[in-house]
Formats: sequence, structure tokens, C-alpha cells
Amino acid sequence: MLSLENISANIAGISVLRSITVQISRGSIVAVVGRNGAGKTTLLRLIMGFLPGHGGRVLLDGADMAQAPARNRARLGIGYAPEDRALFPTFSVEENLRFPCEVIGMPRRAVDERLDETLTIVPELALMLARSGATLSGGQGKMVALGRAVMAGERLVLLDEPFQGLAPVLAQQYGASLERLHKARPKLCVVITESNRSLLKDIPTQTLVLERGELQAGEAAAAAVH
Ligand SMILES: Nc1ncnc2c1ncn2[C@@H]1O[C@H](COP(=O)(O)OP(=O)(O)O)[C@@H](O)[C@H]1O
Ligand SMILES: [Mg+2]
Repeated sequence: MLSLENISANIAGISVLRSITVQISRGSIVAVVGRNGAGKTTLLRLIMGFLPGHGGRVLLDGADMAQAPARNRARLGIGYAPEDRALFPTFSVEENLRFPCEVIGMPRRAVDERLDETLTIVPELALMLARSGATLSGGQGKMVALGRAVMAGERLVLLDEPFQGLAPVLAQQYGASLERLHKARPKLCVVITESNRSLLKDIPTQTLVLERGELQAGEAAAAAVH
């Protein structure tokens, strides 16, 4: 379970996240929806450890993550697909997928197994493995970023606006991958941000609404955002 306890963040003197407290149980796919500038990316970056010095606590299965630097997140079983994908253009797709597991020193055979599993969850990647990261379209890059997050994210997968700008065919494939991920790892927590809630269709098991850095309470708030 992922617990956020009284999370606050200030960037350049502006309060970007305010007193966020929420628990995300194992096996859930939680959508965080909110307008541009609401703080969605900041929230994921904070969970990833890129915003040290924030207020509050982030606990994963009861363990406080404050002491774990961002580079250790893969070791904790956390995978992250940032909004801008951030793939290595000089690496092949396969090298991009293997990277977060290799960087934490996972044995070769374990990485091979993780890659096999990832390719059953995102099968479209199998045909792209040898391509260089630089040759991918934006949508293909998003699929690879999903695969990379799945490689690392045994316990928690964070996806930042994955459906934004994705062509309908790719969006459908992306959604199908999330369903397979949910089945393959029934204890996994997945957090997906979106500014356009309708793009998520019925994928989330729970929806949280973020407005100007604050979580809005209850389903009434969730229903108010489209
Ligand atoms: N590095 C930064 N420098 C200055 N302001 C920032 C920075 N990152 C985020 N912000 C501000 O924090 C707020 C939330 O941004 P962000 O988390 O990117 O929102 P969202 O992902 O929901 O669009 C915005 O007002 C944005 O301008
Ligand atoms: Mg964002």
C-alpha cells in the first residue's frame, strides 16, 4: 500500500501541493485527475524522490521512503513513466527497457524474466526491441516508457498523463496493457494522472481529483471533472 501523509511541496515559494493525505491500496489503479498546473506531475515526482525537503511522509508498505534517494526507487519496486518519456535516444528500445533493472544490479537472468513478462503485458514492444530510442514516434515512446515502468515497478507504477496526445489505436493498446498488468500483478498499485478524465475510460478503480495542489474529497468532486 502507498500512503501519503500530509504531503506538502513548495516550488519557488509557491505552494504546489497542500496537505495531501491518501492511501492507495494494493491492487488498485488510481487516477489523479486535475487541470494543467494542478500539481499532478509534482506529486509523482515527489513520490519518486525528486523533491527532497517536502513536508509529510511517503510510505510504501509501511516503509518511509524519505531516506531512499531517487536512484533507489527501482530497487524498491517503483516504476515511473514521466510525462516527457525521457528515453535514451542512443539506446535501443531493449536497452531502455532493461536499464532501470540493470542500474540496480539485478542479475541478468532476473532481468531477462522481467523482460519476458513485460513483453506479455505490452506485446507491441516485441517488434520494436532493436530500434533506437531516437526513431520512435511520440506514441511509441509512450509505450516504451510504460514498458520501462513495468520492468522496474514490481510494487508501484506511476504514469504521468500517458493518454495525452496518444492516437486512438495506441490508446486502445495502452489501455489493454494496463488491464493485463492489473491481472498479471494483482498486488500492484498503479497511479495514472490525466487532465482529461474521459481518456481513462473505465480503467481506474478509484479516481482522485487534484485542484490547485489540494485533493478534493469524495465522488461528488470526482464526478465534477470531465
Ligand atoms: N520546476 C518548477 N519551477 C517553477 N514552478 C513549477 C515547477 N514545477 C512545477 N511548477 C508549478 O507547480 C504547479 C504544478 O505543476 P505540475 O505539477 O506540473 O502540474 P500538472 O502536472 O498538474 O500540470 C504549476 O503552477 C507549475 O507552474
Ligand atoms: Mg503534468
